[in-house]
Amino acid sequence: MKIPYDATLIVCGPLIMIYFCCLDLVKAGVKHEGIYISLEGHMKCEIDKSGHCNICHKYVCRDGLIFTYAEKKE
Ligand code: FES
Repeated sequence: MKIPYDATLIVCGPLIMIYFCCLDLVKAGVKHEGIYISLEGHMKCEIDKSGHCNICHKYVCRDGLIFTYAEKKE
């Protein structure tokens, strides 16, 4: 399947699935800024207390549930 370079895509699910799905989308030629990832499954307390949702110096519960792949690719 051919995906346009300027497509906007949203990926959600388990973290490992998001990771491999994003790798495949990048390999298919989709730009990093066009891939949005939903990380709500990574939260625990949802009130900025446990630190469970910390990914790359950002808290999913505090900083937002949706990030671009360009923000989180590391
Ligand atoms: S879910 Fe607990 S700190 Fe974000």
